[in-house]
Amino acid sequence: SGASRPRVTFLGTGYLGATYAICYAELGYEVLGYDVDPDKIAKLNAGEVPIHEPGLDELLRRNLAAGRLRFSTDIAETADFGDVHFICVGTPQRADGMGADLSYVEASVTSLAQHLSRKALIVGKSTVPVGTAEWVEQLVSKHAPTNLDVEVAWSPEFLQEGFAVDDVLRPNRIVVGVKSEWANSMLYAAHKGVFDLAATEDREVPLVVTDFATAELVKVAANAFLATKISFINAMAEVCEVAGGDVTQLARAIGYDPRIGNRFLQAGLGFGGACLPKDIRAFQARAQELGAGEALRFLHEVDLINLRRRTRVLQLAAELLGRRSGPAGPDLSGTRIAVLGATFKPNTDDVRDAPALAVAALLHKAGADVHVYDPQGIDNARRAVPELTYESGIAEAVAGSDLVCVLTEWADFRNADPNALGDLVAGRRVVDARNCLDSTLWTQAGWEYRGLGRP
Ligand code: UGA
Repeated sequence: SGASRPRVTFLGTGYLGATYAICYAELGYEVLGYDVDPDKIAKLNAGEVPIHEPGLDELLRRNLAAGRLRFSTDIAETADFGDVHFICVGTPQRADGMGADLSYVEASVTSLAQHLSRKALIVGKSTVPVGTAEWVEQLVSKHAPTNLDVEVAWSPEFLQEGFAVDDVLRPNRIVVGVKSEWANSMLYAAHKGVFDLAATEDREVPLVVTDFATAELVKVAANAFLATKISFINAMAEVCEVAGGDVTQLARAIGYDPRIGNRFLQAGLGFGGACLPKDIRAFQARAQELGAGEALRFLHEVDLINLRRRTRVLQLAAELLGRRSGPAGPDLSGTRIAVLGATFKPNTDDVRDAPALAVAALLHKAGADVHVYDPQGIDNARRAVPELTYESGIAEAVAGSDLVCVLTEWADFRNADPNALGDLVAGRRVVDARNCLDSTLWTQAGWEYRGLGRP
């Protein structure tokens, strides 16, 4: 039943689950989103997206109105609704180490399995340590009624915040780990909307059908590769800093080689967010458990290179302000610093593991009076680091400051007029930690300019 157009559920309506549920309704599927959080569910049912993601609000309202989409906190209703159930709950870094916390996966799979009353496919989407799919299969066989023959599959996702809608509707590949022909055909039917849309747009979406372990590994391998690419160019920035080179020109020059490619070669403050930092740590922890720790030792360096960029910004700030650094770092007391950017990248309100906010906190700890502005992230930033001063605009943050630090490359900052801003400050000094400003323009306007990895 349901093999032509299966009814789908998404368990966990965080970034991943909410986006998928809404986009799958848009593709024409009948969708139910499930979460244990009644506030989230009430909001979604009222047409309110809990995250800032371009285009998602409109799709939510349209599909609620069309009756294809609903959200619920009722697991029995969820179990009853779906032919295919996607597990989209969070897998945060464990409080006691680098590994992933699988308690949400365990809780959602267990209660779903207990409530199933007909054959169904449970598909993992959350980012997990390799081996989790096998463990989920055991959980299911322990908790689901045995006569139903419920099956498990794994299908990682690759959506980027800020592009999430397009990444779900138009993915650059679909990867499925399956054990049976039935699971394979169910999952194909559950992706058919994506293939059909591609066909109408004259595109093709490559499909990789593989085993559980490979499907799980594809996800963490992809994120590890992206993190490594960013840390590679930031390592080159460190060398440029001592050798007198310019990493932005270096990146452009190596990026013309199609084997290298020019994307994800933006040197600067490094990677943050809810995925790359925690994923490379969990991947190392898992490899260690499996006896392959050595193979991923380089990811430890990737992490360290990434974190060193934050200290470098602090150093540049001290240098521009004429402050010496002691063993405990620089003393910035008596200075006022404008921080532009709090989110981990532009076009999101997400401040989870945001390098920008971490640097703002470091500047504050060093004694500076820190005034932060971000176009979308202020509310989240204030909750995460309440001790900073938050401003409502660029001018308000910059006014009276001795130094401006641009820590997230929002278009508003890129397009700001250095002459006009110069009239507001006590000293024309700027650290461009994302190499996003036109250094010539700012220098001509009388600013002392420092980028990362540039002379
Ligand atoms: C990342 C991956 O790009 C997605 O493919 C993946 O699905 C997702 O994690 C996930 O695991 O769910 P995301 O966290 O949205 O997506 O962020 P990215 O766009 O990858 O950016 C990550 C960080 O790297 C940001 O802090 C960004 O500023 C930084 N970055 C990116 C650089 O410093 N330099 C670059 O050249 C590119």
